[in-house]
Amino acid sequence: MKGIILAGGLGKRLEPLTRITNKHLLPVYDRPIIYYPIQTLVDAGIKDILIVTGGNHAGEFLRLLGNGEEFGLKHINYTYQKGEGGIAEALGLAKHFSDNDKIIVILGDNIIEKSIRKYVDDFIKQPKGAKILLKEVDDPKRFGVAEVKGNKILSIVEKPKNPKSKYAVTGIYMFDARVFDIIKTLKPSDRGELEITDVNNDYISRGEMTFDVLDGWWSDCGTHESLLNASNLIKQLRVVGQV
Ligand code: G1P
Repeated sequence: MKGIILAGGLGKRLEPLTRITNKHLLPVYDRPIIYYPIQTLVDAGIKDILIVTGGNHAGEFLRLLGNGEEFGLKHINYTYQKGEGGIAEALGLAKHFSDNDKIIVILGDNIIEKSIRKYVDDFIKQPKGAKILLKEVDDPKRFGVAEVKGNKILSIVEKPKNPKSKYAVTGIYMFDARVFDIIKTLKPSDRGELEITDVNNDYISRGEMTFDVLDGWWSDCGTHESLLNASNLIKQLRVVGQV
């Protein structure tokens, strides 16, 4: 299984912090944001990693990470996304890298407390389809929100005005190779992007989506508030010596 980290975008909600750098290079406590999803993948046993980035500061990723020696990697792959076409468009750029293998995708600003190895191992055994990880949150309107019945997801709505549950869709997705055919069929949403939620709803409509509720805390870093929250959560982990 191959790992893809999506680290593009202009990070407009974090202005002026993102005026002269990429969001994923900003600090969360003592490390740049991008370090955390890389470590998450490495801890889950994924060694073949592609970073998709964009904007004006893409070269800085190479300068910061090199070949990933700090993470015990021999090599990191990089791809460049022109413009602001959204998460699913960025993922489409990883087709050559995935080489028909199953993939795990993690948004470059998603930071989690615990290992996801068990979910990855389950997905490796899953014959086909996709798996997502959900997390109960207090402010679901900010995220993709899943309507869940028993062990099934009925649908996902992106940033709903009236959320049907408190289950946010985290930015950790596992897909089989068909994801790239689905991406080709997508049309831009109202915000002008190809939405990962549309990809997930396609798998749901075919009855090929499984999910788990993520163990431990989860934070994105898309707003000043969540960036600070992520720093505080990591600080607590360092204090108790968990990482
Ligand atoms: C994206 C996804 C959303 C998901 C979130 C997780 O939102 O579109 O479904 O819940 O990441 O971080 P965005 O950060 O692009 O607004």
